[in-house]
Amino acid sequence: MMLADGYTDVADGKLATVVTSLQMRARPEPRPERQCDAWSLRRVEQPALGWYRDLYRRVGDDWMWISRLLMPDADLAAIIHSPDVAVHAFEVDGVAEGLLELDFRVPGECELAFFGLTGRVQGSGAGRWLMNRALQRAWSRPISRLWVHTCTLDHPDALAFYARSGFVPFRRQVEVFDDPRLTGTVPRHVAPHAPIIEPA
Ligand SMILES: CC(C)(COP(=O)(O)OP(=O)(O)OC[C@H]1O[C@@H](n2cnc3c(N)ncnc32)[C@H](O)[C@@H]1OP(=O)(O)O)[C@@H](O)C(=O)NCCC(=O)NCCS
Repeated sequence: MMLADGYTDVADGKLATVVTSLQMRARPEPRPERQCDAWSLRRVEQPALGWYRDLYRRVGDDWMWISRLLMPDADLAAIIHSPDVAVHAFEVDGVAEGLLELDFRVPGECELAFFGLTGRVQGSGAGRWLMNRALQRAWSRPISRLWVHTCTLDHPDALAFYARSGFVPFRRQVEVFDDPRLTGTVPRHVAPHAPIIEPA
């Protein structure tokens, strides 16, 4: 369904976000990166659901990432235990501080399904270090397209960061959903950039 021009009301208690999908069709050159001996990237085979959701929350709560919190266990396991999905932890001195998930379930392409760092390491150069490795791992398989989506609830630098990484926008959508701070899915204080509007 296409939205009409002009303003469209969003029901109180709901959120609306603009989602931008971006893609690249060839492997770009890695960008210059900061080196840090404490940083490592670890492929996590068959991640435990509790471990995965904990890291997902530590990265994503501030940006209201909720899809993997609401998903039934069996559905989540079917994705993250798939041989065509690669979950990685970005670690600082062995402590997971970032999530990288590459989804190869569609033949010939890869979705950068989740990419993010905890607040402890954002803005330290770790994002570029992790993206260089994400691109290397994605393009080491026989793909001709890598894509990602980000939304206006994500970190304000995310879209420009993806563009600098070589992704080109190709689709814009509006998503409407229950405010997860009102349903108790994430804490009430997160994401002040999208204020809560209580239902009457
Ligand atoms: C979006 C996100 C991944 C960006 O990562 P970041 O940690 O802010 O990125 P960096 O610190 O690497 O900084 C970006 C730039 O500054 C540079 N930089 C930052 N600190 C540096 C340092 N100390 N030395 C050298 N370069 C540095 C990086 O090399 C990079 O350069 P480039 O983009 O021109 O190549 C991160 O903010 C994040 O995880 N946000 C929360 C989750 C999210 O919104 N994810 C994306 C939506 S799906």
